[in-house]
Amino acid sequence: MPANLSLETSIQLDIQKIRADFPILQTQVYGKPLVYLDNAATTQKPKLVLDAIQDYYTQYNSNVHRGVHFLSQKATAAYEDARKKVTAFINAKHAHEVIFTRGTTDGINLVASSFGRKFLEKGDSIVISAIEHHSNIVPWQMICEERGASIKVIPVNEKGELVLDTLDELLDDKVKLVAVTYISNTLGTINPVKEIVARAHQQNIPVLVDAAQAAPHLPLDVQDLDVDFMAFSAHKMYGPTGFGALYGKEEWLNQIPPYQGGGDMIKSVSFKKTTYNELPLKFEAGTPSIAEGIAFGAAIDYINSIGLPNIQEAESQLYAYAVDALSTIEELRFIGEAHNRAASISFLVGDAHPFDIGEILDKQGIAVRTGHHCTEPIMQYFNIPGTVRASIAIYNTTEEIDKLVTGIKKAVTLLS
Ligand SMILES: Cc1ncc(COP(=O)(O)O)c(C=O)c1O
Repeated sequence: MPANLSLETSIQLDIQKIRADFPILQTQVYGKPLVYLDNAATTQKPKLVLDAIQDYYTQYNSNVHRGVHFLSQKATAAYEDARKKVTAFINAKHAHEVIFTRGTTDGINLVASSFGRKFLEKGDSIVISAIEHHSNIVPWQMICEERGASIKVIPVNEKGELVLDTLDELLDDKVKLVAVTYISNTLGTINPVKEIVARAHQQNIPVLVDAAQAAPHLPLDVQDLDVDFMAFSAHKMYGPTGFGALYGKEEWLNQIPPYQGGGDMIKSVSFKKTTYNELPLKFEAGTPSIAEGIAFGAAIDYINSIGLPNIQEAESQLYAYAVDALSTIEELRFIGEAHNRAASISFLVGDAHPFDIGEILDKQGIAVRTGHHCTEPIMQYFNIPGTVRASIAIYNTTEEIDKLVTGIKKAVTLLS
């Protein structure tokens, strides 16, 4: 263990107590204790979140927003309480600026579709970056194709950092929106979002931030960042799958048309004319995932009970420990070595295919992800088929990192 990185942080945060909150961490895989290092794909869920789902279905299952009866009012109150928790979590000015979605992908598609239909014209462009997840590329390509617009890309360098020297040149008067990730799910790069927003705003261009990987790892403050839209997913922050939030500044949400039509998003409907509901319901057509929404609120309670600044501090120490420990493997090459990074570490081992390394680790109870991680343009840039990715969460320990290192060394021996 590197000398300056002891278990102190873990002890301060009482990591064993945290681990006890996650029932799945007791699981054995192939007779070995589970070492779960696939948190960028989805995190495990604490008992508080599992109980919130169970309580809803066993005690007050009912539809929201439309019932006069007791159960419906209780469900509505719990669901709207979750919205207030998300609002506080990201320091939004108003709860109606928080739109509930199915996740990051859904939130970005909403903005691409609604903003695109309203503001994108032939010859316009959207600026994204070279290290985006497919869900912050493809929706823009689709709407650009429909509107006769195009995408422009902020380039990346060998370390996995965005080359921002090019930004001012890219931001010409045809650019209608900038969409960038806060933290790369593949490289772990933390982008200087506040700077990007400030520079785009100098040209009066709004910015969408994909915070899927940032929300579980660092404090988010939409007012301080001054972002115009921000999307994230509950399941990557200890909450349930199929749920997330889109933050949008009130003035933008009021200007763009609804995404989908249906129940809840209307004020009144006739065959002649339909009028739309106020924010946030204007963007929330149909019965939502109620249990998941309430459980998302519970996940935020859970994160708050530890404190995001504490999480950030503990995880950055564990991340540094992991980088140091992995560096002792001679055959290992990092993909992405940005100065500022968090959460995900991508690497290759000798000539081995990432899939083979992943399979050997799996047999030792270690869950990592292999492949392109929905970031094919990153693979094209580095000219590689994929990577092995280890990604951490609050319950991971230095012992688990040591097991990862031992597992990779075993893979090296087996494959040589
Ligand atoms: C950076 C980033 N953006 C977007 C997404 C898509 O999130 P979801 O599948 O929850 O919609 C992911 C998921 O891995 C991601 O890592």
